[in-house]
Amino acid sequence: MTWKFFWTPILNVFFTILLSSRGETRCVSATNITCPEGFSCEFCAFSYESWGNLKLVYNLKSVSDLKELVSRVPSETVLLYLQSAGISGIKNGTFSKLGRLLKLYLHGNNLVWNLVELDAFQGLSSLQLLDLSVQRGINQVRREWFLPLSKLVKIQLESNIIKSLPGGTFANNVQLETILLHQNKLTELPDDIMRDLPKLKRAMFQTNEIKTLPGNLLGGSTQVTELNFAHNRLSTISSEIGFQKDTNLTSLHLYNNPIECNCDLIWFRNWVSTVNVLVSVNDTMCLSGYRIVDFNPDTLECGFPYIKIIVLSVSGLLLISVLIAMGKNRWRIRYSLHLVKARLLGYQPLVDGDDDEYEYDVFLSHSSKDEEWVSKVLHPTLENPPYNYKLCLDYRDFIVGETIADNIIDAVQKSRKTAFILTKSFVESEWCYFELEMVRQQMFDEHRDLAILIMKENVPTGDMPGLLKYLMRKGNHIEWSDNKHGELLFWSKLDSALKCRQHNIV
Ligand SMILES: *[C@@H]1O[C@H](CO)[C@@H](O)[C@H](O)[C@H]1NC(C)=O
Ligand SMILES: *[C@@H]1O[C@H](CO)[C@@H](O)[C@H](O)[C@H]1NC(C)=O
Ligand SMILES: *[C@@H]1O[C@H](CO)[C@@H](O)[C@H](O)[C@H]1NC(C)=O
Ligand SMILES: *[C@@H]1O[C@H](CO)[C@@H](O)[C@H](O)[C@H]1NC(C)=O
Repeated sequence: MTWKFFWTPILNVFFTILLSSRGETRCVSATNITCPEGFSCEFCAFSYESWGNLKLVYNLKSVSDLKELVSRVPSETVLLYLQSAGISGIKNGTFSKLGRLLKLYLHGNNLVWNLVELDAFQGLSSLQLLDLSVQRGINQVRREWFLPLSKLVKIQLESNIIKSLPGGTFANNVQLETILLHQNKLTELPDDIMRDLPKLKRAMFQTNEIKTLPGNLLGGSTQVTELNFAHNRLSTISSEIGFQKDTNLTSLHLYNNPIECNCDLIWFRNWVSTVNVLVSVNDTMCLSGYRIVDFNPDTLECGFPYIKIIVLSVSGLLLISVLIAMGKNRWRIRYSLHLVKARLLGYQPLVDGDDDEYEYDVFLSHSSKDEEWVSKVLHPTLENPPYNYKLCLDYRDFIVGETIADNIIDAVQKSRKTAFILTKSFVESEWCYFELEMVRQQMFDEHRDLAILIMKENVPTGDMPGLLKYLMRKGNHIEWSDNKHGELLFWSKLDSALKCRQHNIV
């Protein structure tokens, strides 16, 4: 027994253990088989297994007929390397004899998606790894391609130009542990791309153009530990995606996305502060430029944005309509408000015949521009002999501190009659409509004629509010005249109008 003969198997075992403990394979040149032309052949050992794994590596830079080439590959082949061989298409059933193949490497070819036929990978029933990375024309993936690969553990589709994936892409690949789809042109993902893959651990989608992620992204996939969505176009991280539900997730890459740190992100900000899952946490930035960990949701006014929007728009509309209505009808509105208030405060109309309960004989309603005439002519004449009426005058009897509207309501109620001094300025005055409306209401409530219209100036009927026209028809109207005889007639008419106590109008 020579020294070499003794040590070689021991060294082999030693290296096998050393390398397999790092998950690598060790191979020896296959001298006991006929290696097909263009290939180099080796026997390899994975882990502690025997050396029976046949590995074929294609060494030429071009393939004229792939199906013919693969037909020369021994059926016991376990590892097949067909990298950078200028392959542009794969025909149906090309690999159908290779039922023992575990790994198929097609990296760096010129594959074009529509030249890879639907049954291209038919028969690869043991395949665990399929490497289709770095092709020239894979901008789509066909769902049918991966259907026969029920043992697939790792799929490599990175560094292609894939724009979209069909629903159910990996539906039949329930053994999948790793999905590599980084460096593509994906803008969205089908809902089920990572669902119901109970063994899935890693999925790499970095450097794509993904804008949103589907809800319940990992439904039925409970073992996921690493997800990479860095360098995409994600603007928000919805809680519906369900990252927070996967308690086995240890590495989530989200840096280099235009994430908007707004109300929608609060859950995420709160979640990442309770778990240690976000990779490069200090490089995960908000669109506005600060780090996501520095985003303080308390500075935002969140809550119920929809309700806020609805309330704001409804009140905006209300305000606008009120403003429009106020412009047209502001006295009608103010009057209605005061009427409601008066009713609520328990105003009771006086009953017929309770004449003595009135504090005043007459309330003189006039525009402020006519105050001089009232105070110099009407006031002294009516309050002195022979008339001796008790007048309610705004400049004297209105209570300072109460609103004009309340004073008017009070004055109308406490006076047996209300006399309107009709002038152009009265008709234009802000309170005119209000006072008229008050009196009309009182007349209806008490069934008696309250209104006396004193025409100090000739006001064209066309300029009068409708209500005034109505009172003109219903009530007395007395014309003022500067002429001496006219003046006498005026006082006498006014006196009898004031004395006329009962006058049913309805
Ligand atoms: C060739 O050798 C390898 C290991 O050296 C062995 O596993 C395999 O069974 C052999 N194959 C044949 C056809 O003899
Ligand atoms: C390849 O297989 C698919 C599915 O069986 C079939 O639809 C298609 O026509 C086949 N292509 C060719 C070129 O035979
Ligand atoms: C995490 O993984 C364990 C097994 O490793 C599994 O039992 C558990 O359900 C997983 N957790 C979740 C939340 O899926
Ligand atoms: C993130 O930055 C903070 C200081 O701003 C530092 O204390 C922390 O160690 C950093 N974390 C990582 C993972 O680099």
